[in-house]
Amino acid sequence: TQGCLLQLLAPPRTAAGDPEWCCSTPPHSPRGRRSTQVLGVLAMLGLGFLTLTYLLWQVPLPHAWYQMHPKEVTSWEALEGQTGQQRDSCQFFLVESIPQDLPYAAGSPSAQSLAQAWLQLLDTAQESIHVASYYWSLTGPDIGVNDSSSQPGEAILQKLLQLLDRNVSLMVATNSPALAKNSTDLQVLAVQGAQVRQVPMRHFTGGVLHSKFWVVDGQHIYLGSANMDWRSLTQVKELGAIIYNCSGLAHDLEKTFQTYWVLGAPQAVLPKTWPQNFSSRINRFQPLRGRFGGVPTTAYFSASPPALCPRGRTRDLDAVLAVMKGARKFIYASVMEYFPTTRFSHPARYWPVLDNALRDAAFGRRVCVRLLVSCGLSTDPTMFPYLRSLQALSNPSAGISVEVKVFIVPVGNHSNIPFSRVNHNKFMVTEKAAYIGTSNWSEDYFSSTSGVGLVVSQRALHAQPGVPPAQEQLRQLFQRDWSSRYAVGLDGQAPGQDCAWQD
Ligand SMILES: *[C@@H]1O[C@H](CO)[C@@H](O)[C@H](O)[C@H]1NC(C)=O
Ligand SMILES: *[C@@H]1O[C@H](CO)[C@@H](O)[C@H](O)[C@H]1NC(C)=O
Ligand SMILES: *[C@@H]1O[C@H](CO)[C@@H](O)[C@H](O)[C@H]1NC(C)=O
Ligand SMILES: *[C@@H]1O[C@H](CO)[C@@H](O)[C@H](O)[C@H]1NC(C)=O
Ligand SMILES: *[C@@H]1O[C@H](CO)[C@@H](O)[C@H](O)[C@H]1NC(C)=O
Ligand SMILES: *[C@@H]1O[C@H](CO)[C@@H](O)[C@H](O)[C@H]1NC(C)=O
Ligand SMILES: *[C@@H]1O[C@H](CO)[C@@H](O)[C@H](O)[C@H]1NC(C)=O
Repeated sequence: TQGCLLQLLAPPRTAAGDPEWCCSTPPHSPRGRRSTQVLGVLAMLGLGFLTLTYLLWQVPLPHAWYQMHPKEVTSWEALEGQTGQQRDSCQFFLVESIPQDLPYAAGSPSAQSLAQAWLQLLDTAQESIHVASYYWSLTGPDIGVNDSSSQPGEAILQKLLQLLDRNVSLMVATNSPALAKNSTDLQVLAVQGAQVRQVPMRHFTGGVLHSKFWVVDGQHIYLGSANMDWRSLTQVKELGAIIYNCSGLAHDLEKTFQTYWVLGAPQAVLPKTWPQNFSSRINRFQPLRGRFGGVPTTAYFSASPPALCPRGRTRDLDAVLAVMKGARKFIYASVMEYFPTTRFSHPARYWPVLDNALRDAAFGRRVCVRLLVSCGLSTDPTMFPYLRSLQALSNPSAGISVEVKVFIVPVGNHSNIPFSRVNHNKFMVTEKAAYIGTSNWSEDYFSSTSGVGLVVSQRALHAQPGVPPAQEQLRQLFQRDWSSRYAVGLDGQAPGQDCAWQD
C-alpha cells in the first residue's frame, strides 16, 4: 500500500508562521495600496465624526429627540426577554473522536472525547432517550471483528441496557434496510423494551436516513458525524456537539425526530404538508437566542431533505449557504467528501451549488477559503479533479485564496478493521458561525438523504477571558488538523496516487 501512506512521509506543507486566518494580502499589491488610501480617508472621516460627537455631547439634546428615536433592541437580555427563553441555561460543548494512533503535537487544542461525552450524557438520562441513526454496530462481533478498540462502543450498548432496566424509555429511529446486517444491537435493546422504528427512507425520498442525533429527557442533545458504531469512538475521526439543559433547542430537534418516527410507522405515507405541530419557530431567520454558559448565543437546526422540512424549518442546504454568505474573513470546511455532482442518481447531474458559493466568497468578498477533505482506502479518486479545479481559482497576488488539502488517517496496524481510519467530520466554521452537520458535500445529501445541521454563533466576550466562543473553538480544531502532518496539499500528490490506494 503506497498512495496515502507515501504522502505522510512528505514534509508538512504548512508554514509555521501561518496567520490566524490566511489571506494576507501581499504588501505591494495594487489592492493593498488602494486599501491604504481608503484607510486614510476613513481615518479622516472618523476624526470628523468624533469632533462632531464631542460638540453634540456639549450641547444637550431636547428630550423629544430621544422619544423620536426609541433605543434599538441591541441587548441580548432584551431579546431573551422577548422570546421567553431565559429559563434555560444551555451549556454547549464540542466533542470529537480522534482515532487511535493519530497523535497530535503536544499542547494541541482538543475537544471532549466523544466516548466519554456519550457516557456522561447517558448518565444524566432520567426519563427518555430518542436516537436518530443511520445504522447500529456497537460491538465487535456485529461486524465480525475481534479488536480491543470495540470496547467503548460495547460500553455504550451496556449503558443503554442498564437505562432500559431503570425504565428510562428508549426510542430509536434507524434507516431500513439496515447497513450492518449482522448487528444484533437493536434486537437486544428491543427485547429489553426499546421501541425501534425502521424508516424506509428510500421509499419516501430515494435517500437514506443518515441523521445522527440524540434528544435526552427533552432537554439535552447530541448531534454530530458519528454513527452508532464502535469504530466512531476509536477508529474514525468524528466531530459533534452536546448541549445540556436546553429544552428550547431539544424540543425543536425532537420535532425532526418525530418526522422520522411518523415515517417509521407501518403503512406510513410522506405527508404533503406536515401537521402544524411539526412546524418550527426556530430557524435561520429567528434563531434561538440565549446565554449559553453566560455567553450570548444564537442557534438553530436545519434539516434535509426538503420533504422532511415542515413549515419554519431551515433546509440544510440553505443553512450551509447562509453560513458561507455570512463570512467576511474565512470559511474553513472539513468534510469527508466533496463532489459538485450527484453521487447516487443515474445519470449523474452536475451540481455546483456549494462549489459556486465557495468561489463566490473567495472571488467576490476575498474570503479566505480552506477545504479539508478526507482521504482513505475507499476514497473515490474522481473527486480530485473537482478539488484541483476549486483550488485553481486561487490567485494570491489578487487576494483570492482557496486552498484544499486532504486529511489522511494512517491505517497503521489497524488494517483488520474495515471502513475505518477516515476523517468523517462534516463541519464548517467562519469568523461568525460554527456549522456542525451530518451530510457529505454532494447533491444527494441535501435533496434526498435525511440529515441535520446545527448552526451556532457566540459573541466574543472581550471583558471575560476563559472559554472562547463556539466558532473560535471550532476554528482552533480545524487549524490543528490543517497544520498537522496528516493534512497534505493537492500539489504534493504524485499523478495517479490521489489517495486511491494501490497494492
Ligand atoms: C455476517 O454473517 C454471515 C453469516 O453468518 C457471515 O458469513 C458474514 O461473514 C458476516 N459478515 C460480517 C461483516 O461479519
Ligand atoms: C479475541 O482476541 C483475543 C486476543 O487477541 C483472544 O484472547 C480472544 O480469544 C479472541 N476472541 C475471539 C472470540 O476470537
Ligand atoms: C420499572 O417498571 C416496572 C413495571 O412498571 C416496575 O415493576 C419496576 O419496579 C420499575 N423499575 C424501576 C427501577 O423503577
Ligand atoms: C444542568 O442543570 C442541572 C440542574 O440545574 C445542573 O445540576 C447541571 O450541572 C447542569 N448541567 C450542565 C452540564 O451544566
Ligand atoms: C403532533 O400531534 C400528533 C397527534 O396528536 C402526535 O401524534 C404527534 O406526535 C405530534 N407531533 C409532534 C412533532 O409533536
Ligand atoms: C499498534 O501500533 C501501536 C503504535 O503504533 C502500538 O502501540 C500497538 O501496541 C500496536 N498494536 C498491535 C496489536 O500491534
Ligand atoms: C459519505 O461518503 C462516503 C464515501 O462515499 C460514504 O461511504 C458514506 O457512507 C457517506 N456518508 C457518510 C457516512 O458520511
